[in-house]
Amino acid sequence: MKINAYFATSLDGFIARTDGSLDWLPQPEADGEDYGYSHFFNSMDVLVMGRNTYETVLTFGEWPYADKRVFVLSSRKLDMPAFVPQILTQRACSPGELAQELSTQGVEQVYVDGGKTIQSFLRAGLLDEITISIIPVLIGRGIPLFGPLDADVKLQVVESQSFENGIIQNRYMILR
Ligand SMILES: NC(=O)c1ccc[n+]([C@@H]2O[C@H](COP(=O)([O-])OP(=O)(O)OC[C@H]3O[C@@H](n4cnc5c(N)ncnc54)[C@H](OP(=O)(O)O)[C@@H]3O)[C@@H](O)[C@H]2O)c1
Repeated sequence: MKINAYFATSLDGFIARTDGSLDWLPQPEADGEDYGYSHFFNSMDVLVMGRNTYETVLTFGEWPYADKRVFVLSSRKLDMPAFVPQILTQRACSPGELAQELSTQGVEQVYVDGGKTIQSFLRAGLLDEITISIIPVLIGRGIPLFGPLDADVKLQVVESQSFENGIIQNRYMILR
């Protein structure tokens, strides 16, 4: 099983403003370019996200993940408006326990989303690949992309692409 993250960051290393807003991100609809997201998303079997990311998704007012299996990590009861599909599953377990559960089910590709959640999979040594789109904007403060680690993590760039609007996208393999 392979565990992947795909996200955008400001040049100063934030994935959202302090209040969670994403207004500084380019709009794929306006750009006519989705930066490889559909291809990535369609190749994933399961999406795992943290509660904060789930709550941001709820503000969209519609479910953007079609019939993809989604797991939300949270220790608290989740708000589930009517547009959230029944296939959504909540877990309050460690990244290792969830990875074990998914692996036992034969899942091959996992998409992990949310800053703290990605960091916890990284710290547990479970993340295999990260695709980061660096947006050429400084937002000054916000929710950080990365956090404390117990040891250095080495990565290898496997693909690097730049777009006309200045976005640079790197795909990294995590070396173990
Ligand atoms: N720029 C991008 O590409 C991008 C991508 C994704 C998200 N975002 C943004 O990033 C923000 C969210 O990131 P974030 O770092 O705040 O948080 P997050 O990872 O989405 O959510 C963190 C929360 O998930 C729960 N959680 C995580 N791991 C858990 C575990 N193993 N067991 C139980 N619960 C667990 C905890 O909530 P409980 O307190 O409920 O236990 C934790 O506080 C949102 O604003 C979102 O829009 C940006």
